[in-house]
Amino acid sequence: MTQTSSIIKLKDISFFYPGSNTKVLDHLTLEINTGDRIGMMAPNGSGKTTLLHTIMGLCKPESGTIEVFGKLLEKEKDFIPIRSRIGLLFQDSDDQLFCPTVLDDVAFGPLNLGFSPQKAITIARNTLKRLGIEEFEPSVTHRLSGGQKRLVALASVLAMAPEVLLLDEPTAGLDNKVKKKLIDILNGLDISYFVISHEYDFARAVTDKIYSMENGKILTDDDIQIHRHEHVHKHGKHPHIHK
Ligand SMILES: Nc1ncnc2c1ncn2[C@@H]1O[C@H](COP(=O)(O)OP(=O)(O)OP(=O)(O)O)[C@@H](O)[C@H]1O
Ligand SMILES: [Mg+2]
Repeated sequence: MTQTSSIIKLKDISFFYPGSNTKVLDHLTLEINTGDRIGMMAPNGSGKTTLLHTIMGLCKPESGTIEVFGKLLEKEKDFIPIRSRIGLLFQDSDDQLFCPTVLDDVAFGPLNLGFSPQKAITIARNTLKRLGIEEFEPSVTHRLSGGQKRLVALASVLAMAPEVLLLDEPTAGLDNKVKKKLIDILNGLDISYFVISHEYDFARAVTDKIYSMENGKILTDDDIQIHRHEHVHKHGKHPHIHK
């Protein structure tokens, strides 16, 4: 049996946005271990994006502990090295893409990791090819469509060869053909990932377990049963939770 080890461990995390007295995360606990492929489905505003930003040190919790790759992260400087090892796909692609062209955007991460400009460009080109979007290479990023930007944002994350992926609604704006490609790509990865999605079929296709969030806490498989079936109650054939 292969040994699993902890990649991300959040314990007792509570978080408020400044000026607000609503606890978005309330004594939340989460573990992501090697081999985990976890889905997260929860209502709008339940705190999913905030959770990912907390892991990356972009939201600073009032209480609790964050341990990543076995290290306790407390100060801003503790988070800097882990940001290049965790691939965060932002919910909004415009938060991820800021270079003039697609090639620059995808090469930016590898350059930052210390690769030579030539090597960074090779990595970027290979990543674009892997996603089947090599024709976007010379495009002006901000002129791409929403779905095209989504793919470029994903390429910019994968180009950094992260050790774990945190994906915030990766399929938003993607057509079925591209979604299918993304399913194949994720299923072909040998790293752990945590993927937020409102699409049950997609989440099922790429993960082994689906969590939810309620009142600032994670509900795991043991607490909930998210599924899709047709029956008479009000949720009809939409994915829903039976507690
Ligand atoms: N920058 C901010 N300042 C103040 N409140 C915020 C900020 N960002 C989010 N919130 C609030 O925090 C709560 C959780 O937001 P979050 O974006 O984490 O939800 P989410 O589960 O990702 O939602 P969605 O499914 O719509 O993406 C919401 O009530 C939201 O209004
Ligand atoms: Mg969100």
